[in-house]
Amino acid sequence: AELAREKMNLVLIGMPGCGKSTIARKLAEISGRPAVDIDQRIVERIGMPIRDFFAQQGEARFRQIEAEILAEVTLQTGQIIATGGGIVKDWENVRRLRQSGKVYFLDRSLDQLETDPSRPLSSSREALRQLYDQRIDLYRAACDQQIENNGSADQTARRLWQDWL
Ligand code: S3P
Repeated sequence: AELAREKMNLVLIGMPGCGKSTIARKLAEISGRPAVDIDQRIVERIGMPIRDFFAQQGEARFRQIEAEILAEVTLQTGQIIATGGGIVKDWENVRRLRQSGKVYFLDRSLDQLETDPSRPLSSSREALRQLYDQRIDLYRAACDQQIENNGSADQTARRLWQDWL
């Protein structure tokens, strides 16, 4: 069944460092909708940085918690949702996201992705390149719509909001 537009969630997926959290905040400003950041919810739940949790408990446990929080968040409607880059690794997550709204793949070219030494899977350019090769087809298949984000965040947010309206 089709959800009414105001009830749909607007969901951002894409590589680490592609600008999901930034664009989600800008979209929240433009739209007046609440922005929900899945990674941030995870950090609140686990009580430590994601990097430390990966080291102590492993990625598999992280993915379980990520899936739990996603299931909770997608019960709510009318949100802007920023996901973690690995959300597409489990197709059950993708199914939930697609069911709850419209999924945008925020596509930033590999050389423009932000590296961050504090993030376990995107600490270096080489790590990002490997992830990109593994994930690009998944992001394309998981999304309803692909949006380039190679320019300014403001401009991308406005372009995305135009598509949404
Ligand atoms: C991950 C991306 C991270 C975070 C975790 C795993 C991934 O989120 O969820 O480190 O597998 O791509 P960002 O995409 O916000 O960096």
